[in-house]
Amino acid sequence: MTLAFAALVPAMSPVQAAETGDAGRGAVVFRQCRSCHEIGEGAGHKVGPQLNGLFGRRAGGLTDFDYSRGLARAGRDGMVWDREKLDIYIANPKSLVSDTNMNFRGIGDADDRRHVIAFLRGYSASPANIVESAPTAFARDPDVDPATLAIEGDPAYGEYLSSECTTCHRVDGADAGIPSITGWPEEDFVTAMHAYKARYRVHPVMQMMAARLSDEEIASLAVYFETLE
Ligand code: HEC
Ligand code: HEC
Repeated sequence: MTLAFAALVPAMSPVQAAETGDAGRGAVVFRQCRSCHEIGEGAGHKVGPQLNGLFGRRAGGLTDFDYSRGLARAGRDGMVWDREKLDIYIANPKSLVSDTNMNFRGIGDADDRRHVIAFLRGYSASPANIVESAPTAFARDPDVDPATLAIEGDPAYGEYLSSECTTCHRVDGADAGIPSITGWPEEDFVTAMHAYKARYRVHPVMQMMAARLSDEEIASLAVYFETLE
């Protein structure tokens, strides 16, 4: 594998730099990741996978690393790491992959995330050839609005709506290829559904299911499924 390393990060115009972050400051932010990740020449896996060549790499895509089922599944569904996906994952890993093994509280500061993403990008092959996502991506908040999280669901209504879900998801909580959604904390469930609705999560069927549901309906489904073991 040929890789361009940090020294080869192309010079950017000030405007680009403002949008894409400062790799030098990102190196400092990356100290928070070093306990679990290596990057650069000779990097190997630690608790987390090595992070060379991340841009354009399929999520959970290294065959010699043992990923969580959720991250491996997202990769199989077609999720590829780009700036927007990384921004969401680094902000709150569980909002993108519910059962991720990355036990990291996330980086709340959007500037710090931009910087660390610029740093990571320097270790991807030919970073200059990779299409940037629109800068508006940074204005989006991967966390669900607290007002939406605060909506109180009605479990009886949730049960009524759930017939649409249980054609695929099993009420007994078994994971037979399709993940279990019973007994989840309500907040995680709501966050996952809104991640499909906002298309941060890539699965097309779930995007369609979530798009049809109102915030109240999602809250009701969440309280209902939470009560199932
Ligand atoms: C406590 C350990 C830990 C820390 C700290 C941590 N990670 Fe991770 N990271 C992991 C693990 C474990 C995985 C594999 C996750 C899975 O399989 O769900 C992972 C996965 C990833 C992936 C997906 C890689 C792939 O091959 O798909 C990226 C990107 C990533 N981490 C970036 C970061 C960044 C950037 C930081 C610092 C801001 C960070 N991580 C901090 C443990 C950690
Ligand atoms: C046609 C089958 C199908 C139907 C119907 C369906 N789902 Fe899903 N659901 C899936 C699949 C497949 C996944 C895994 C998608 C992925 O990898 O992101 C999933 C994932 C999920 C997740 C995230 C699980 C995780 O581990 O991250 C939630 C939450 C969820 N579905 C809720 C629902 C709800 C609520 C309904 C009903 C409104 C529903 N689903 C209807 C197939 C379905």
